[in-house]
Amino acid sequence: MFFGRKKSPPRDGVEVSTPAPRQKKPPIHLPMASTAPAPPASGSSTVPVGRAGTAPGAPAQQTLTLPGVTYTVAIASGKGGVGKSTVSANLAVALAQSGKRVGLLDADIYGPSIPALMGAHGHPDVRDERIVPVEAHGVHMMSLGLLVPGDEPTIWRGPMVGQAVQQLLRDVNWGELDYLLIDLPPGTGDAPLSLSQALRLTGVVVVSTPQDVALNIAVRSIGMFKQLRVPVLGIVENMSYFVCTHCSERHYIFGHGGARKACDQQKVPFLGEIPLYQAIRETGDAGVPIATTAPDAPEAVAFATVSRELERQVKKLSRRSLPILQVSGQ
Ligand SMILES: Nc1ncnc2c1ncn2[C@@H]1O[C@H](COP(=O)(O)OP(=O)(O)OP(=O)(O)O)[C@@H](O)[C@H]1O
Ligand SMILES: [Mg+2]
Ligand SMILES: [Zn+2]
Repeated sequence: MFFGRKKSPPRDGVEVSTPAPRQKKPPIHLPMASTAPAPPASGSSTVPVGRAGTAPGAPAQQTLTLPGVTYTVAIASGKGGVGKSTVSANLAVALAQSGKRVGLLDADIYGPSIPALMGAHGHPDVRDERIVPVEAHGVHMMSLGLLVPGDEPTIWRGPMVGQAVQQLLRDVNWGELDYLLIDLPPGTGDAPLSLSQALRLTGVVVVSTPQDVALNIAVRSIGMFKQLRVPVLGIVENMSYFVCTHCSERHYIFGHGGARKACDQQKVPFLGEIPLYQAIRETGDAGVPIATTAPDAPEAVAFATVSRELERQVKKLSRRSLPILQVSGQ
């Protein structure tokens, strides 16, 4: 097992070797971008695809398969702090509440926050040499935060990031799942890159706030996933508006309409909006996602609505990905 810790922090995955002086992280190349075959025209694929929801023309380097998992959906963002983990946790609970078997992998190995959001603590069991996910609010959850205890910062060299994420996928017995949601660290770094190359993701959901700065970076992140041939299932706009406790009007604190416009421009689906609510933050801090505590509250309904739209896009994509049978002699 590599789950060891070294000294000092950086969140950008700077490569450090001791006692040699610090080295700069080499630039990340997107090998798939130049070597992957062009994707077949949508709707006319004759490429056999193994699993429902797998993208046609996906990169060839994949090494991991999760035989019991039907859909693997990564949750990404360009900018940090836009509510990706909050959205991941609440979408997982919303999907579980609609009867789906759901796993949630915290792939933010620098700053795992899913255990706190889901109120899950304690060391997971190991059975038959595989880690058993921790169950919380009906969701099977795993995070490096459960395996590497303490608050000491973890340092990861670039390649280790990918290995850590892959190991969390491989060494965990995910069992039979309809959905495995994967909460990524922000940005276009090693984790999303390595994950997209290691696993045939069904697709990626990008979380953004309505702010221009967040959307600009979200668009960059979408560009990376498109290059990696990972289908973009859509953008979720988080902190869309605030329902004022004084005048009951919606206040668009971070701007309005930007995510829809970005979706139109990028030709990706708009999955819906999650308002800014104090209860979302409070229930997140308390480790009891709002969908669990108050499923009929507007906050929870917003997540349930986005989860249904996500399901719709996943189904649409898997229909499109089905190979067309060619009848010989025609
Ligand atoms: N819709 C919302 N309403 C109120 N608070 C929210 C909402 N979404 C997220 N938050 C709060 O914003 C903060 C950041 O959220 P979160 O940790 O989910 O973001 P993140 O994108 O995962 O961050 P990071 O980039 O560090 O991984 C948290 O305190 C969370 O409770
Ligand atoms: Mg996070
Ligand atoms: Zn007001």
